[in-house]
Amino acid sequence: MRAVVLVGGFGTRLRPLTSSIPKPMLPVGHVPIIERLVANLARGGVVEVTLALGFKPEPFLEAFPDGHCAGVALHYAVEPEPLDTAGAIRFAADHAGIDDTFVVANGDVLTDLDVSAMVAFHRSRHAEATIHLIGVPDPSAFGVVALDADGRVERFIEKPAPGTAPSNLINAGTYVLEPSVLARIPVGQKVSIERATFPAIVADGGLFAMATDDYWLDTGRPEYYLEANIDIAAGRRRHDRCHPVHPDALVSPDAVITRSIVGPGATVAAGALVTDSVLLTGASVDTDAVVADSVVMGRVGAGAEVRHSVLGADGVVAPGEHVDGVKRPDPDAS
Ligand code: GDD
Ligand code: MG
Repeated sequence: MRAVVLVGGFGTRLRPLTSSIPKPMLPVGHVPIIERLVANLARGGVVEVTLALGFKPEPFLEAFPDGHCAGVALHYAVEPEPLDTAGAIRFAADHAGIDDTFVVANGDVLTDLDVSAMVAFHRSRHAEATIHLIGVPDPSAFGVVALDADGRVERFIEKPAPGTAPSNLINAGTYVLEPSVLARIPVGQKVSIERATFPAIVADGGLFAMATDDYWLDTGRPEYYLEANIDIAAGRRRHDRCHPVHPDALVSPDAVITRSIVGPGATVAAGALVTDSVLLTGASVDTDAVVADSVVMGRVGAGAEVRHSVLGADGVVAPGEHVDGVKRPDPDAS
């Protein structure tokens, strides 16, 4: 089985982290999101993945120089301009020569979904397209479906206004598609699978959906990116594990690290306290500083306090400074 993984978004909501690293290359438990995602596809029977890239393929080429990721052969389809989700799927599938049932995944989703079970479900329903669903308390930030008893999708609504969603079941960003879906997508045009293609397949009765209660997270916002890291450290994933403090991190024996991930090369000085946070490569936390509920790639000065914040590679909190809820450098400043 072949797959297309969508990795062409700009990662806007994860800035300033994504100013230096594309979203799918950000590590979760020391391993890039894309590698954890591809590993799960491989467990489900996927042997070849085409990355649908909108821009900047270089970080991927550098990370996977032999053209393999998690044991799977990787190909790159670089769009001349961002074509949105369906346009990107068409472009990548044409690039890879896909002409059989295939899998698509949003590149920012981490899940323990059994993809082979989803393919079996898809075949049992003779579906044209099948989407994975997860139940969430507030579905308004996602694609939402109404289903019949057989799993046939009756409505697909992308990001409904709060309070108007027909159910709590959301599009979890993994699809099984027949090649006939490709014929619905015009070549070289910006088309959204969520807003155009899925509603068209619903109208023809060919869209099905399989709900599961597997681990699932869209890492596309800082609070969820943080959660994805903490979850893996806490052993909440079915297959994935990691040592919270990487062996190549430089942590003083007089620092306290709780429920946090510390990446290779990150430094934590004596007396520092790090809780519920992620320190990425490049992070330094100086003497007696406090870091809580934050993601840090930059520098935290001695005695500083950083809470609910995101520091990119060039983000600095001065010695003794206290910050809460900041992003540095400010991604909205020009
Ligand atoms: N190649 C390419 N080109 N990829 C793109 C483009 C593009 O023009 N636009 C978006 N993508 C990729 C993103 O990188 C991401 O991996 C995926 O498509 C989905 O885009 P997001 O921007 O992350 O969308 P979302 O999270 O708001 O919503 C999507 O995911 C939800 C589940 O997490 C939708 O599919 C929702 O329906 C779904 O509920
Ligand atoms: Mg997303």
